Amino acid sequence: MSPQQSDDRAAPAGAAATAELYEPSPDVLEAAHVKDWENARAEAEKDPVAFWEERARELDWYEPWDQALDDSNAPFFQWFVGGKTNVVLNALDRHMANARKNKLALIWEGENGEQATMSYFRLRQEVNRFANVLKSMGVAKGDRVTIYMGRIPEIIVAMLATVKIGAMHSVVYGGFSTEALAERIEDARSRVLITADGSYIRGKTVPLKQIADEAVARSGYVEHVIVVRRTGEPVNMEASRDYWYHELMALPIASPVCETEPMDAEDPMFILYTSGTTGRPKGVLHTHGGYQVQIATTLKWVFDVQDDDRWWCAADPGWITGHSYIVYGPLILGATSLLYEGAPDYPYPDRWWRLVEQYAVSVLYTAPTAIRGLMRFGGSWPQRHDLSSLRLLGTVGEPINPEAWRWYHNTIGGGRCPIMDTWWQTETGGFMITPLPVTPLKPGSGTKPFPGIEMDVVRDDGTSCDPNEEGKLVVKRPWPGMLRTIYEDPDRYVEQYWSEFAEQGWYLTGDSARRDEDGYVWIIGRLDDVIKVAGYRLGTAEIESALVSHPSVSEAAVIAVPDEVKGNVIHAFCIPTAGTEKPTEETLKQHVRKETGPIAVPARIEIVDSLPKTRSGKIMRRVLRAKALGEPVGDLSTLAD
Ligand code: PRX
Repeated sequence: MSPQQSDDRAAPAGAAATAELYEPSPDVLEAAHVKDWENARAEAEKDPVAFWEERARELDWYEPWDQALDDSNAPFFQWFVGGKTNVVLNALDRHMANARKNKLALIWEGENGEQATMSYFRLRQEVNRFANVLKSMGVAKGDRVTIYMGRIPEIIVAMLATVKIGAMHSVVYGGFSTEALAERIEDARSRVLITADGSYIRGKTVPLKQIADEAVARSGYVEHVIVVRRTGEPVNMEASRDYWYHELMALPIASPVCETEPMDAEDPMFILYTSGTTGRPKGVLHTHGGYQVQIATTLKWVFDVQDDDRWWCAADPGWITGHSYIVYGPLILGATSLLYEGAPDYPYPDRWWRLVEQYAVSVLYTAPTAIRGLMRFGGSWPQRHDLSSLRLLGTVGEPINPEAWRWYHNTIGGGRCPIMDTWWQTETGGFMITPLPVTPLKPGSGTKPFPGIEMDVVRDDGTSCDPNEEGKLVVKRPWPGMLRTIYEDPDRYVEQYWSEFAEQGWYLTGDSARRDEDGYVWIIGRLDDVIKVAGYRLGTAEIESALVSHPSVSEAAVIAVPDEVKGNVIHAFCIPTAGTEKPTEETLKQHVRKETGPIAVPARIEIVDSLPKTRSGKIMRRVLRAKALGEPVGDLSTLAD
């Protein structure tokens, strides 16, 4: 790829970048699965439901569907109604009938350098064995299994085994801590928890089992805990509650023969908790049929996954990116994936580039924060390695600034790899706004909606914004990978996503955006109380509730402050409880780390006597933000004090 007009350096994001266009090279065009992007979009637009149906036919079904889309009970849309399938049928079973059986499904590297590989055949055997273990513990169709682990192959086995027998998983990211885990176990009412003794990160261990023990004690639903041995550090094992994974897998019950449960297309497959506007995380619920169609199609079209590729999605299986594009998407396509356990800069800042070289990674998909973090160490680290195996790059999770885009493109991609900037959400299941390899790219824009997806940037009254006018990003018609509800809270589902444009029946993304004169979408940021820190999605209310759970904090307010590497960091303001000792910044940081997890720890905590509030008692975060950024505070007429 070469820039048509490169007006480089220090241009304000958006403005000059609009003029910078990267056309695909002849090589990319030749290799691409879909060669004409606009035509593919136009074709799908003629009959979007038929487009998705055609994609669904590329997968295996026990029984075909009667109706592709049932919109009679909107916004509770249903896809492929009457169809019988199971994601595991497509991710594992169907590969046994061809050469993929012996192909590597997974290449794993531990932070300490250990290596392991698993063929499709072996992965399926492990999954079957563990599925039988789960069944023997009474896990049945519809049950919720909570999984809390680091990036090790067993997390993938556990997820697939759960889904195989018709149960649902709720994976809690291994960087969360006690309270976050406890409340997710409680909301899902999980009887079984799968965890590990610990995990490695940056040369240290995280005591996952110890955190799990505390969470189990707080939540009170868990009857069995299955523990994978990873670090070998001593852990407490409670008799008749806790079992070692390797001991269970050695039992005769762990037979490698296990039938995959045929599921209705609309049967729930997993819950994934994500942050919203209140302190309570939302259990976003996805189902078997539509989800598999969307992730398989998007991965195939956007990253053009070929049989000889080595795909590396460097996210964590505990987030939606990992669910869709580490676990299910690549397996459905029969791809070979790399999973790396540890930190990108451990023991040296070239760890990732060493992995690309060593495993001949052909496609790398990661978050802008990781790119900015590694960019900080300079170009000499990647330049030590042969990165010529790379042919495509991708980003997700937050807007990428043009400077980081160019570094990724030139220093990592050698100027030849198109960058797929994919916009989507936990709720959307798969990519929504994204280029294809043949799309002319503008650094910082995810370009246009994927074929079959209809989105718009609209004003409050629902009219479409003019080019470059900021508005609300909405999805105008149902798509197969959409969330079906919030677990056991359908009202919140309707209220959160479908109430703002109820009349039109549009889905509210919560993002603000603008579209340029070419129709390219530029994401501006969140419109609600969600903060993206290093690509992680956090709610202000979640962090505030962690802060006030400390006895010496009576009130707290948090805001997002821009940060060069992480996109945003959190600043918190706390009012001490009367009559208690004034807490220190460090004590409160430790407290948040322990309750919610390291990702939620504010970069700064200020202890204050009061918070700016409206007369009705609402905290004016705008005032706090202006103060923190040294900007004018604006209109203060509604301020109480
Ligand atoms: O604000 C958007 C941002 O991430 C939000 C969704 O977060 P989450 O559910 O954690 O999913 C992240 C991984 C799919 C969106 O509402 N976001 C996601 N991708 C992009 C993005 N912002 C800009 N550009 C992107 N490519």
